[in-house]
Amino acid sequence: MKEKIEKYLEEIATFRADSVDTLEQFRIKFLSKKGLIPELFEGMKTVAAENRKDFGALLNEVKNAAQNKVNELKELIDSSSTSQQVFADATLPVDFLTIGSRHPISLVKNEIISIFSKIGFVVAEGPEIEDDWHNFSALNFPPDHPARDMQDTFFIEKNPDIALRTHTSSVQIRVMESQKPPIRALFPGRVFRNEAISARAHCIFHQVEGLYVDKNVSFADLKQTLLYFAREMFSPETKIRLRPSYFPFTEPSAEMDISCNICGGKGCNICKYSGWVEILGCGMVDPSVLKNCGIDPEVYSGFAFGMGIERTTLLKYNINDIRLYFENDIRFLRQFTSAY
Ligand code: DAH
Repeated sequence: MKEKIEKYLEEIATFRADSVDTLEQFRIKFLSKKGLIPELFEGMKTVAAENRKDFGALLNEVKNAAQNKVNELKELIDSSSTSQQVFADATLPVDFLTIGSRHPISLVKNEIISIFSKIGFVVAEGPEIEDDWHNFSALNFPPDHPARDMQDTFFIEKNPDIALRTHTSSVQIRVMESQKPPIRALFPGRVFRNEAISARAHCIFHQVEGLYVDKNVSFADLKQTLLYFAREMFSPETKIRLRPSYFPFTEPSAEMDISCNICGGKGCNICKYSGWVEILGCGMVDPSVLKNCGIDPEVYSGFAFGMGIERTTLLKYNINDIRLYFENDIRFLRQFTSAY
């Protein structure tokens, strides 16, 4: 019996196979129910009790050797057959690489820029660390305005004149100070507010500001420009409405609502069953703001508007939690792979 086992071990160790068929024959010969190894196990009964332990160990050794051989050769045959296929047909497609995607905030920002660029708006940028003049004073914020409070604004320690900009309206001032009308520009960028982070609020978010200054710019121009934007951004059926509001730097000021893009105006929890959702603030540039920038309000007039990109993205893609934009969860980001 021992001799038989040694012969099997030898045969297993030297066995080679280059096809699935020869390997299968080997497996049947040794390991199938009626194969040589189960037959050996059957023979255990005839072995004297005191030798059984050693014999059992030996049997396990043959069994494992045969099983390992089958696994090893199977893997070898599988891998060489795929490489043979590839060499046989060099036109077979390669494995796909996972392609990254743009962040939804960038997608929407680029879309806003592209919509306004069709009607002559150009992009300008300003610093994220601003002084009081550009972020507040030149925009007509009174000294006791709550936005100037430490509660709402991130100031630089020991210098109350320097803060992280709280809105992109500061870029209006920089552009009007350095350029002569006509000005037709768009200012996208990050803004910062001292807010507790929740599903609805974040301390960092993005805005796009628009500014148009020329002779004879009217509120009708503002309204038509925004209607054009809303229809391009959401759908040709989108309606807008302007509600009177207040901002220190525009007079008159308004907030614009669009018919809810999520439910088509029928009413849902995004629009709180009103059919309308707020999307931006706007108005005619206050004459004293023009004056602060060296532009004569007797000659020129202008309009401005500002919108949050997170909010616009929410309305476009129905995203219900602002924190998702910042978590970099690949399952969220992958949903925008095909957007462009
Ligand atoms: N700066 C305002 C904010 O952050 C948004 C805004 C409102 C911008 C009216 C404008 C405007 O240009 O005319 O809430």
